[in-house]
Amino acid sequence: MAKGVKTVFFCQNCGYESSKWMGQCPACREWNTFVEERVSAAKSPGSAKGRGPAGERRKPVRIRDISLDEETRTGTGIGELDRVLGGGVVPGSLILIGGDPGIGKSTLLLQVCRNIAAAERRVLYISGEESLAQIRMRAERIGEIGDSMLLLTETDLTGVSETIERERPDVCIIDSIQTMYSGEIASAPGSVSQVREATGVLLRLAKTLGISIFIVGHVTKDGAVAGPRVLEHMVDTVLYFEGDRHASYRILRAVKNRFGSTNEIGVFEMRDSGLREVPNPSEYMLDGKPENAPGSVVACSMEGSRPVLIEIQALVCRTNFGLPRRTAAGTDANRVNLLIAVLERRCGLKLGELDAYINIAGGIRMTEPAVDLGIAMAIASAYADRAIGDRVIAFGEVGLGGEIRAVSQAEQRILEAKKLGFETVVLPKANMKGIKEIKGIRLVPVETLAEAIRV
Ligand code: TYD
Ligand code: MG
Repeated sequence: MAKGVKTVFFCQNCGYESSKWMGQCPACREWNTFVEERVSAAKSPGSAKGRGPAGERRKPVRIRDISLDEETRTGTGIGELDRVLGGGVVPGSLILIGGDPGIGKSTLLLQVCRNIAAAERRVLYISGEESLAQIRMRAERIGEIGDSMLLLTETDLTGVSETIERERPDVCIIDSIQTMYSGEIASAPGSVSQVREATGVLLRLAKTLGISIFIVGHVTKDGAVAGPRVLEHMVDTVLYFEGDRHASYRILRAVKNRFGSTNEIGVFEMRDSGLREVPNPSEYMLDGKPENAPGSVVACSMEGSRPVLIEIQALVCRTNFGLPRRTAAGTDANRVNLLIAVLERRCGLKLGELDAYINIAGGIRMTEPAVDLGIAMAIASAYADRAIGDRVIAFGEVGLGGEIRAVSQAEQRILEAKKLGFETVVLPKANMKGIKEIKGIRLVPVETLAEAIRV
């Protein structure tokens, strides 16, 4: 082997580096994820990071001397995305958008390009996955794109960075990082060293030229290509695009954000003309809710700063086999088992010989403990085969002793319920302090689960 070249093993899942092969990664505990990659000892990935464009060393500056006016954010024209980003795109930031293949990352970013081009700003869309004609076809579906958007199909990293330096766009899109390839690195495209090198180069371009760069990264479970996880520490913002590929809604979540909160979510709906924003997710989630159906309860979960109302459905029926089945779609199955145990012991419901199925309508996933009370009441309602009424919502955390514990932001949840026309709110008694009288809504404070069920 040539001098100066050594081989290193990388975990393709989390990027852990090791000098020898291992069956299980000590960092992320995944099996069979180590792949040998050649790295040249002379130049480790991103080694020129400390230098400016001309290669000169930078000087330290006083914090007071740094001007802040460069921080003006660019709107993407998509309100839900702007909110998740913390109010728009910061110039010179590197944003990673991860998600399963086919979830809609390219579609979302093409829509961003369209809006930015419509605002007469320069965008460069670099695709390593699709041909120009394919992108054109997609663009036809989402609508007219202005002339200040340029397209390039390229996978060679040198070509990509030269084009960015020449064109100096305001915003640049790299679709996807796993297709980018640097000739200086011996391993295959999509491997940890390639993906890291490409991100290092893009990071340098973003910071030195003040270009905001969006990077698309496919999440891969089989470990064949390095996923976005290995890059999370390098970029400014990490967004994950998720949702059921068969359902039409999509949720954008911030996992890391140097310029905003990570609690916010953006909700979209995939239409045949691209992604459409869903500004009021509660309305969307409750669409098609049956009236006065037993086993159906509306609960409220906080997603970032927004309360979202969801319908919880429960069905119980006699077990055909010895062991009862418990399945939960959209929430944690262990939590449901726990709630069933509490209902048995503390409320005297005989669920031991019954199957229980829980579903959160709309296919959304909710794991906040505040939905506990809703789930427990849905099971109790299904058990008694009695509807709890249409205009009622419930929230609260259920403890093992059957007590109902306080949740955060109770008032906001109540106001959301009121906005959607609900009349009664069942809530933890401990939340009653600090809540002012709210007109047009009846508050039912409860202390224990048994009390809630009686109500
Ligand atoms: P895409 O953006 O290509 O996904 P990714 O880049 O994350 O791999 O999304 C492709 C899916 O979206 C595909 O299954 C078709 C669907 N789609 C629509 O339903 N409507 C549309 O207007 C577009 C452009 C795509
Ligand atoms: Mg794509």
